[in-house]
Amino acid sequence: MAAQKTDALIVDAVRSPIGKKNGTLSHIRGDDVSAQVINGLVERNGVDPGEVEDLQWGCVSQVDEQAWNTGRNTALAAGWPVSVCGTTVDRQCGSSMQSNFNAAAAVWSGQLDLVVAGGVEMMSRVPMGSNRGSMSDAVYERFDIVMQGISAEEIAAKWNLSREDLDRYSYESHMRAARAIDEGRFDKEIIPIELDLPAPDSGTTLIRTRFAVDEAVRRETTVERMASLQPAFVPDGKVTAGNSSQIVDGSAAVLVASEEKASALGLEPRARFLGFGIAGVDPHLMLHGNPQACDRALAKAGLTWDDMEVIEVNEAFASVVLQFLADTNLGERWEAGDVNPNGGGISLGHPLGATGARMTATLVSELERRNARYGIAAMCIGFGQAIAGVVERL
Ligand SMILES: CC(C)(COP(=O)(O)OP(=O)(O)OC[C@H]1O[C@@H](n2cnc3c(N)ncnc32)[C@H](O)[C@@H]1OP(=O)(O)O)[C@@H](O)C(=O)NCCC(=O)NCCS
Repeated sequence: MAAQKTDALIVDAVRSPIGKKNGTLSHIRGDDVSAQVINGLVERNGVDPGEVEDLQWGCVSQVDEQAWNTGRNTALAAGWPVSVCGTTVDRQCGSSMQSNFNAAAAVWSGQLDLVVAGGVEMMSRVPMGSNRGSMSDAVYERFDIVMQGISAEEIAAKWNLSREDLDRYSYESHMRAARAIDEGRFDKEIIPIELDLPAPDSGTTLIRTRFAVDEAVRRETTVERMASLQPAFVPDGKVTAGNSSQIVDGSAAVLVASEEKASALGLEPRARFLGFGIAGVDPHLMLHGNPQACDRALAKAGLTWDDMEVIEVNEAFASVVLQFLADTNLGERWEAGDVNPNGGGISLGHPLGATGARMTATLVSELERRNARYGIAAMCIGFGQAIAGVVERL
């Protein structure tokens, strides 16, 4: 590892349950969900919110309810002192892995001692693309910019992945996520969300509800049902609603501390960040940079794939994970259950700005469950990037 002033300790890592599209969480604002998540995080660690110096908050669609620097507004909505700062980070799908990176880098360099790093995306309330703008003609002239689903199709074609390959992977994702829920594997990372839901028979009566379990998982799905779904992006394509990440709502947060601060507050860190890697790749093919980002993160951590006992790769699309497995030669590790052991974006859903921190939380939980030491989480990123982070359980 490179010389650092202090470890960047992961004191704790939590998340909301993930709400399906237009499901339970669609009845509450993202900053209000996030406020409950960060309050749950500090409360269960006995941390006075006034000790937190900054909230680094990932969010992709920064308009409407997610506008005006939702990072800062989340701290205010949580009732935290005005002294707690907040910023909002956009590295597209990698936004809250980037906020984790920002927090770790600030701690490693000695500039900050206690940071909450996470993110939010309420895709039911603020749809993906609703902050759509335009790019410079200079970019359009250089690259054929397409939507992510088209890139997922092209990756499937270029890596010779069949529709059956994509559906088999995706079916297994749902089965793994359902098993994880049934076995309570997410219990430690989930902060239940309290909210008012309209009564089923009445538009006006509200019922106080405690939402505690991920609801996008399709445990009843079958390979045959998935094979019957129509292509979602091109008429003769292989990418469907079944083998794409789901549109969902969620929030996740990681409490990152320096060694000195953790010791002063009597905190018991669960893990530490060892290194991050980012990679830029072709903006058209877009989603194939995970292997390069991982290589860089592993090099910074001074570790290799053989050291990684748990590997999380964001299931943006099944083709992206299968391309990653092919390029890294890790297919057997997926079969063995070391890669995405508890499902991912296809089954749990991919709330864009929250997923990176969600993956950190799930990775730390899984390392603890296995009594394992090292793990990595990687995510592809829209318009041709990827980011990965390596953690060590303590
Ligand atoms: C692919 C996509 C367009 C599909 O959107 P959608 O049509 O709204 O998707 P839904 O989840 O409503 O599913 C559509 C249908 O497929 C069915 N379906 C989806 N997954 C299924 C599964 N695993 N098994 C069985 N049926 C399934 C649903 O039941 C639904 O049918 P219904 O309308 O009869 O209920 C959308 O999920 C998407 O854009 N995903 C990618 C998001 C993205 O790009 N993120 C960034 C990544 S880089």
